[in-house]
Amino acid sequence: MSPSAKLTLPELAAMAAEGRPIAMVTAYDAPGARLAGEAGIDILLVGDSAAMTVLGHDSTVPATMEEMLMLTRAVARAAPRPLVVADMPFGSYQVSDEDALRNAIRFVKEAGADAVKLEGAGPTLSRVRALVGAGIPVMGHVGLTPQSATMLGGFKAQGRTAERALQLLADARALEAAGCFSLVLEAVPAPVAARISERLAIPTIGIGAGPGCDGQVLVWHDLLGLSHGHQARFVKRYAEIGDAIRDALDAYTRDVRERRFPAEEHTYAMPDDELALFERGLAASAASSPYPS
Ligand code: KIV
Repeated sequence: MSPSAKLTLPELAAMAAEGRPIAMVTAYDAPGARLAGEAGIDILLVGDSAAMTVLGHDSTVPATMEEMLMLTRAVARAAPRPLVVADMPFGSYQVSDEDALRNAIRFVKEAGADAVKLEGAGPTLSRVRALVGAGIPVMGHVGLTPQSATMLGGFKAQGRTAERALQLLADARALEAAGCFSLVLEAVPAPVAARISERLAIPTIGIGAGPGCDGQVLVWHDLLGLSHGHQARFVKRYAEIGDAIRDALDAYTRDVRERRFPAEEHTYAMPDDELALFERGLAASAASSPYPS
């Protein structure tokens, strides 16, 4: 297998079966996808978190199909190896199986996604069956499902009572039976996520779900220190890229204002004889022009 060949679903399943943790991160553009691929990331999720991280909204709900398609195209172009999973935005799969299928096909056919992700169980189960039946791999997502955060009482951990934890397990099993190849568990107590993971054959990917999942996912901007404001308990910042960007922009602004940039090495030269001809041409056109030079 070539190191740049696309990761396959059987390879992903084998990683989980053999206890090799799966690394997933969100991505929203080509440079990010390229860097993530170089770092050995297995799955790139074009998350509808883009609505918040890159589009400036305060929830994931406003993300549109056209926005998500554009971001997915950019990521897919630069991700020869990682599996590219496109998040289906709110409204693109809630109405009917037909709608879900039409929109999922767009992600695969027009944007180059390898798979799509849908939130929730219940009515989502029939969507999963429709998509999988059409040959589109589906990743499920239970626990804190941001598209329905209002219904869940806000961005809060889920499955914290025995009853809710059992419901989560039932939902996870139903999504597996419907044909999901993998399942995101978000903001779920670690023991609950571990027990769900043990009981599923498909890989679970945790975010705020502890170490018992088969893989982990973080949002790009959280991981790299590019997000601001409230930070969820489960976030680990591996860098402070936001500070580095601000420092660089600050230095650039000062260089421009104080005329240190551009320096000679950033400019293009011109042969002296051509420059002399140019000056003569300027003088001639000034002499013949009715306008002051
Ligand atoms: O949209 C997103 O970034 C997600 C992850 C939090 C799993 O769904």
